[in-house]
Amino acid sequence: MTQTITVIRGDGIGPEIMEATLHVLDALDTGLQYEFAEAGLVALEQSGELLPAATMDSIRKNRVALKSPLTTPVGGGFSSINVELRKRFDLYANVRPAKSFPNTKSRFDSGVDLVTVRENTEGAYSAEGQAVSEDGETATSITRTTRRGSERIVRYAFELARKTGRKKVTVVHKANILKSTSGLFLKTAREVAAEYPDIACEEMIVDNCCMQLVMRPEQFDVIVTTNLFGDIISDLCAGLIGGLGLTPGANIGTDAAIFEAVHGTAPDIAGQGKANPCALLLGAAQMLDHLGMADKATRLRGAIVATLEARDGVTGDLGGSGTTMGFAKAIASRL
Ligand code: NAI
Ligand code: MG
Repeated sequence: MTQTITVIRGDGIGPEIMEATLHVLDALDTGLQYEFAEAGLVALEQSGELLPAATMDSIRKNRVALKSPLTTPVGGGFSSINVELRKRFDLYANVRPAKSFPNTKSRFDSGVDLVTVRENTEGAYSAEGQAVSEDGETATSITRTTRRGSERIVRYAFELARKTGRKKVTVVHKANILKSTSGLFLKTAREVAAEYPDIACEEMIVDNCCMQLVMRPEQFDVIVTTNLFGDIISDLCAGLIGGLGLTPGANIGTDAAIFEAVHGTAPDIAGQGKANPCALLLGAAQMLDHLGMADKATRLRGAIVATLEARDGVTGDLGGSGTTMGFAKAIASRL
């Protein structure tokens, strides 16, 4: 049976890195069919909507999307398209691997190999009860943490560890201060962890975790945490391995999954063929794992590493002078 995926080319550098990524996927002979759908500024200009119904239908039908970054116009009351996609498809798990690559400008050319699993739908980002008092002096908002939300994200992390041969899950929290919300998360995490005696479980308070990540990142394997902490920690981890050009992210729910690069539309270099396609390519590798094509995902990651090792065609963000498509072709030639 042929698998069709929804492909969103996006804004800014989006179309360039998507073209490069599809070039490599074609060379990998995945057999995937692409259904192109628009979202973001391109969609707004074409159809008057940032997230057209046809795009939603396509994702709902195919259940898997590969997505380039999108511009949400500032002002005009538009809510973030990415937040909207997460909400509408209940994409509760944000999975961000961070693994050292050779010849990057990072401080850690080896040793980092961790995955952050961030709860993507609740916590401090539940956007409930947002209010500023009439005199403008006091602002409040509700942090909602549920047992169900905590349980499914922690379970996702342990299942991921088991499936990928990882040995340890670190539960990151602030239950010493945020006794109710972070407390419920930690209590639920302990209950779930008890069901996985084959995987070590460690607890760490978020501030200490940040320090440990910078000092000794190689001690981490899988990190699972709530929305706000996960947002911050996963960017910190991107910084450990050489930045945005090398960091993918998956947004996974029960009925749909969207794979992407973590970076934005990079308007400063858009249209110039300078963008590094690796983050989206690594997102595509996560997608191949999700689709049960782990062998192809491994080949793709191996070709990226070999290309970085040879410094063949690498882009400006990695100190080279290659083009987006040139880099992609160098990777494709090493598959
Ligand atoms: P950005 O990630 O677009 O750019 C930050 C810096 O990193 C820029 O100097 C850029 O040139 C560089 N950069 C990013 N990706 C690169 C790549 N693949 N290769 C080489 N250099 C790269 O972040 P910024 O400037 O904060 O946001 C720009 C726009 O992107 C905004 O409209 C924002 O809303 C949107 N955005 C969209 C996201 C998404 O759709 N997932 C995520 C983050 C931002
Ligand atoms: Mg973020």
